[in-house]
Amino acid sequence: MISEEERQIIKETLDHKANGTTHMLDDVMYNPVAKYNDPNQLRAEMDILFKNFPIIIAHSSDLLEAGSFLTYDDLQAPILVTRNNDGQVKAFLNVCRHRGARVEDKPCGKARTFSCPYHNWTFDLNGNLRGLPQPFGFGDLDKSKLGLIELPVFEEFGMIWVVPSKTEQTIDFDAWTAPMREQLNGLDLGGHVVFKKWSLDRNMSWRLALEGFQESYHFCSAHRDTACSSYLDNQSVHMNFHPHVRHAVPLSSIEELREKPEAEWDYRPHYMTQNYLFPANFVQVMTDHVYVHTIIPTGQGTCKFQCMMLIPEAPKTEKAERYWNKNYDLIRIVFDEDFVIGEGIQKGLNTNANQEFLFGMYECGLHFGQTAIDDALKGDLTVDTV
Ligand code: FES
Ligand SMILES: [Fe+2]
Repeated sequence: MISEEERQIIKETLDHKANGTTHMLDDVMYNPVAKYNDPNQLRAEMDILFKNFPIIIAHSSDLLEAGSFLTYDDLQAPILVTRNNDGQVKAFLNVCRHRGARVEDKPCGKARTFSCPYHNWTFDLNGNLRGLPQPFGFGDLDKSKLGLIELPVFEEFGMIWVVPSKTEQTIDFDAWTAPMREQLNGLDLGGHVVFKKWSLDRNMSWRLALEGFQESYHFCSAHRDTACSSYLDNQSVHMNFHPHVRHAVPLSSIEELREKPEAEWDYRPHYMTQNYLFPANFVQVMTDHVYVHTIIPTGQGTCKFQCMMLIPEAPKTEKAERYWNKNYDLIRIVFDEDFVIGEGIQKGLNTNANQEFLFGMYECGLHFGQTAIDDALKGDLTVDTV
């Protein structure tokens, strides 16, 4: 059973292929190089995009049971995430309310309470301040006002998403992700298993890393010996769900559907789908497994790429293990091909060789992604609230 959206994507692909055309916008787009190397631009991106919007930080299975916790330090704020006794996920600034020490330092584990190492103030899984040594020194302390600062957190599509700054607003995650929900719910990523998880520091603007996933024009040159052969050359269909984008890259096998009645069409075996969830999350759906990645700026010209490879079930045989490892090895090579190019671009960014980069009419994801970022920085795009 495929969705109406998928039927549409398949139709477009088959039409373009028959006509020798591809999905294009009306015009090219000129993108100032300053958007990649101006420190003020980066500051604004870090302060707005990476503070006010949901970022994927883990898979649900990383917090398996009540009392599981993890800490996360790759965004600007230190974050502590817990699963409380009701099974709910909670996120907090990992900052003690006494004098600011990190309440928990371990990357993950199980705990009933968190005792700050500095003076031993103790917080529970809901962030409440439970106790402190020698409270007489603090007079009439209202403990209820000194709980850990809570951050918006969502456990959705099998992933844990955090908005990494303190806010009074209630975020409407369903509204925010509405155009992607049908597809992402259909993947059952919560039922998947994390086969591998990795994180890379790369010497390139986060924007350059991001753009590697927003068009397929580069596949048959940058990935000539790897990804190119599986896909139709530059035949992506981009669906703009501003600010998110569904980028469908057809495999050569799509041709099999031409003679089949629509009722028998299937989607997943014939596409790799790059779902961009603003500002920096990707759910990259392969025919039988999924990569979830997030790209985070770490400074001027540097970024962190975090990725998890999700497979439908833990491998039961050596053959299955080998199969998934082969996929993993290949994707590491393919991603690296993009990053090496991105790091090369980074080296030339400050030369003034280009005042602008040029986005082709079929590099639609670049247009859509840049427009969404511009809108957010202008204040015209904010996360939905209730
Ligand atoms: S800073 Fe945490 S107990 Fe003092
Ligand atoms: Fe690529």
